[in-house]
Amino acid sequence: MNASTGQTRVGLTVPGQSGAGSGEPVLPEFRASWWETGLRARAETRLLGVFTSLPGLVAKAVRVAWRADRWRTATATAATLVSGAMAAFGLLATQRVLIQLFAGGPTPDRVRAALPALTLLAVATAIRGGLGMATGYALNGLTPRVHQAVERQLFEHTTAVELAAFDDEAFAEGMERATRGTEAAIELVQNTMNLFAGVVSLLAVTVAVVAINPLLLLALLVATVPTGYAALRAGHERFKSYLASSTRRRRQWVLQTLMAERKSAAELRTYGLRQFLLGLYDRVMGAQVAVELGVARRVTTTTSIGAAVGGVALTGVYVLLGVLLLDGRIPLAAAATCVVAVQAAQRALTVLTFQIDRVYASGQFFNEYVKFLGAADAYLPAPARDNGLPPGRLVELGVHGVTLQYLDRDRPAVDDLTLTIRAGQTVALVGENGSGKSTLAAMIAGLRRPTGGHITWNGRPLADFDTAQLLGQIAVVLQDHHKWPFSATTNIAMGDIDTDAHPPRVETAAGLAAAHEMIRELPHGYDTLLDRTFKDGQDLSGGQWQRITAARGFYRDAPLLIMDEPSSALDPRAEDALFQALRSRQGDKTTILITHRLANVTHADRIYVMHEGALEQAGTHAELIAAGGRYAELFTLQAAGYQPDL
Ligand SMILES: Nc1ncnc2c1ncn2[C@@H]1O[C@H](COP(=O)(O)OP(=O)(O)O)[C@@H](O)[C@H]1O
Ligand SMILES: [Mg+2]
Repeated sequence: MNASTGQTRVGLTVPGQSGAGSGEPVLPEFRASWWETGLRARAETRLLGVFTSLPGLVAKAVRVAWRADRWRTATATAATLVSGAMAAFGLLATQRVLIQLFAGGPTPDRVRAALPALTLLAVATAIRGGLGMATGYALNGLTPRVHQAVERQLFEHTTAVELAAFDDEAFAEGMERATRGTEAAIELVQNTMNLFAGVVSLLAVTVAVVAINPLLLLALLVATVPTGYAALRAGHERFKSYLASSTRRRRQWVLQTLMAERKSAAELRTYGLRQFLLGLYDRVMGAQVAVELGVARRVTTTTSIGAAVGGVALTGVYVLLGVLLLDGRIPLAAAATCVVAVQAAQRALTVLTFQIDRVYASGQFFNEYVKFLGAADAYLPAPARDNGLPPGRLVELGVHGVTLQYLDRDRPAVDDLTLTIRAGQTVALVGENGSGKSTLAAMIAGLRRPTGGHITWNGRPLADFDTAQLLGQIAVVLQDHHKWPFSATTNIAMGDIDTDAHPPRVETAAGLAAAHEMIRELPHGYDTLLDRTFKDGQDLSGGQWQRITAARGFYRDAPLLIMDEPSSALDPRAEDALFQALRSRQGDKTTILITHRLANVTHADRIYVMHEGALEQAGTHAELIAAGGRYAELFTLQAAGYQPDL
C-alpha cells in the first residue's frame, strides 16, 4: 500500500452490506440504534413541551447549585433580585426627572426640581452596577464547584457499577452523553441564573410600563415574540442533531485515538493502515459535517425570519407610540420614558428568550446525565443480605450449577458447572481458548454475577457477605490486566491499597513474581513511572508488565489467589520462578491457576478441564493422564514439542 499516492482503495464494506447493488457500502455507525428511537421522540417535543419542562429544569439547576455552594447561590439570587428592583426604581426615577424637565418655568428651577429624582436615579444605577459585579463574582466561584460536584458524582457511579455494565452498549452510549452532561451542568446553572436575571428585569420594566400605559406592553410582546420563537426553534434543531450523531461521534473519537496514539502507532505502520483509517475518518466525518451543515442552514433560516418579523413589529410599536403622543393621549415625558422602557424591555426579552433556549438545551444534556446515573444505579451491586456478614477464613469454596451467559450471546460462556475447592488446595483450570475459564474465575472473584446457580464461601452464597470484605480475601491477577500509569512501587502496592506502601513488602512481592531484578534495573528503580507518555516515564515489555501484575497479586497476600494465564508472556526463567512461588503456597493458601503451560499444573491438587463452558474432566494429573481424555491429549501434544525425538 502506498500511502503517498492517496490512490489506495480502502475496504470499507461491512459483511452483509457489501453494497453490490447500491455501490455505497454502509458502516454500521450510520444506522440508527434502538436507543435513539426513544430519545428522538423526546427531542421532537413541541415548543409547548419546552415551556412545561422549564420549571423542572430550573429546579434541577437550583438543586445542583445549592448542593455545590449554598452561600454563592444565595448571593447571586439575592443580588439579581435587588438589581431588578433597582431597575424598576431607575425607570420610575427617569420618568420623574423627565416630568420635571418638561414642566413649565425657568430652566434653573426645573433642573433644581429634578435634582432629587436625578440623585435617586444615580444611586439606583450605582447599586445595580455593584450588584452586577457581586453576581458575577458569586457565579465565577459557583461554576467550578458545580462542575466538580457533578463530575465526581458521575465517577462515583462509573466506579461502583458491576463489570457487566461495560458490556452493555447502551451504557457506553449513555456514558458518552453523561460526560457532556457534566459541562451542561455548569451551563444549566449559568443559564438559569441569566434566565432569572432576564425574568426579573422584564418584571421590573413591566411594572414601569404598566404604570405608564398597559397598551404598550401588549405592543411590546408583539414585537418580541417572533424572535423569541425563532430562538427556541433553533435550540431544538441543535439538540436533535446532537442526539442523532451520538454514535457517530463515538466512532470518530475511537478513530482519532487510533490514529494519534502511541499504542496503535506500530501496527498502523506495519500493516499500512494509514489510508484505511483516514478513509474511515473521512466517511464518518463527512456524514457528521453534512448533518451539521444542514442544522446550521435550518437554524440560520429560522432566526433570520424571526428577526425580520420582529423588526417589522417593533416599528409598529413606535408608530403606535407616535400616534398616542400626537392624539395627546400621553404626555411627552411619559412617551420619552416609554421609549427608554421599550428598549430596556426588549433587551430583557432578548436575554429571556435566548436563555430559555439555552436552559432547555443544556437542561436536555443535563437530563442525559441524570438519566445515566439512573441507568447506572440499575447496575449497582445488590446490597448484601443480612447487612453483609464478614466472610470468615476460607474453608471451602463451592461452585454449584453455575451458568453465565453474556449479554447478547446465544450460548452460555459457563454452562451449569459444579466444583468444590478446599482451603490450601492449588486448583488448575485447563481448557482451550474460549472454554470459559476466565469467566468462571471472574465469577469466583465476585466480578461477575452468575446468571444461574450460585457460588458459596464456606457454604453461604457470596451475596450474603460484605462485598468489600469478601474482595479483600481474594487476589486476582487478570488475564486482561491493566497497565496503571503509576510508579513500579505503586503498581505493586496497589494490591493492598488500604495500607501504606511498605518497601520491603513490595520487594518481596516483586521477588516472588521475578520482577525485583528487572525493576531495580529501571532508570529510577522502584520509583520509575511506568507510563511513556510522561517525562521520564518508562515503557515495559509485555512479559515485564506481566511480572508487575503478578507481583501485585502476591502483594495482596490473600487467602485465595486467582491467577489467569499469569505466564503467557514470561520467559522460561521468570515462568519457573513464578510457579515456584505459587507452589510454596500449596497446603497453606488457596490458589486457582489458569494456564496453558500444562507442565506447570502437574503439581495441582486438582485439575478441572473445561470445554465449551462445561466441566469435562476433573482429577489429578496422574488420574487424568490415565483416563486418557482431552487433558491427556493436550498434555501429550505439548510435551511432544519438548521431545522432538519421540
Ligand atoms: N465481556 C464479554 N462479553 C461477551 N462475551 C464474552 C465476554 N467475555 C468473554 N466472552 C465470551 O465468552 C466465552 C468464554 O470466554 P473466556 O471465559 O474468556 O474463555 P477462556 O478464558 O477460557 O479463554 C468466549 O466465547 C468469549 O468470546
Ligand atoms: Mg481467559
